[in-house]
Amino acid sequence: MELITIDRGLCKKDGICKAVCPMQLLQVGEEGFPEMIPGAERFCIACGHCQAVCPRSALTYAGVAPQECTPIDRNKAGNLENLENLENLIKGRRSIRKYKKGAVPHETLERLLDMVRWVPSARNGQPLHWLMVEDREKLDRLAGLVADWTRKNEHYSQMATAWDQGFDAIFRGAPHLAVAHASVDAVRPALDCVIATTTLDLAASAMGLGGCWAGVFIEAADSEPLREFLHLPEDHKVYGALMLGYPSFNYQRAPQRKAIKLSWL
Ligand SMILES: Cc1cc2nc3c(=O)[nH]c(=O)nc-3n(C[C@H](O)[C@H](O)[C@H](O)COP(=O)(O)O)c2cc1C
Ligand code: SF4
Repeated sequence: MELITIDRGLCKKDGICKAVCPMQLLQVGEEGFPEMIPGAERFCIACGHCQAVCPRSALTYAGVAPQECTPIDRNKAGNLENLENLENLIKGRRSIRKYKKGAVPHETLERLLDMVRWVPSARNGQPLHWLMVEDREKLDRLAGLVADWTRKNEHYSQMATAWDQGFDAIFRGAPHLAVAHASVDAVRPALDCVIATTTLDLAASAMGLGGCWAGVFIEAADSEPLREFLHLPEDHKVYGALMLGYPSFNYQRAPQRKAIKLSWL
């Protein structure tokens, strides 16, 4: 199958698809229509920009017609009200450390993770795998393993003490933990997972959920007992993890933050 096919009845030969291709894989064919440079398919990173940008819906990519893609409402971009909403969301997101007991429905979690598929990833590698720990009993066992790991690390030893005293300073009693893992052989697995986890945190906040990075867990996740518990593939590492659940309290205002450190060059 051709990677790219052009509907010649729709294409206006505007060259936009060729202009946006990050790998410069497109050329203008004899009749002025865009086409893949012969033999260039193997360099395609499947970013889909050529298809996503076409104002005429003329480009089919890998057998997927433009009508099958998620439409984007351009009227919403550049709208000040949207910017204010986004600003409110960014400033209003907090790391939540007190959760209500109830679980988040599967559909809600799936909707969030589905949304996050559109985050950037190095070379569009999309190497990320999610593991959703959704059973509080399993989370307790996992927290116990993390607590054991902290016993050998004096920096975190108070976490084990708290755990022994019945306080979960590791997952804060959250009903879910979203774990982002990827192959160490991906182009930038750590950055890709961090971007996705951060976006998940923000999207969760927009849906009235709360999240909190599970940093100690991430550090402990490469130890053998945790790898085994998580069934991580041999070449994978955990690079991001977010507790998730319904927050017990709503924040009324944004806390103080340092002034922006900015220099212009
Ligand atoms: C990489 C990373 C790891 C973190 N790990 C933890 C953690 O293990 N436990 C925790 O309670 N908070 C953790 N946090 C949350 C930070 O403490 C929090 O983002 C910071 O205090 C600012 O608060 P805010 O997120 O509400 O603005 C982590 C944050 C990041 C970015
Ligand atoms: S999918 Fe991306 S890399 Fe591949 S041809 Fe289209 S724009 Fe270029």
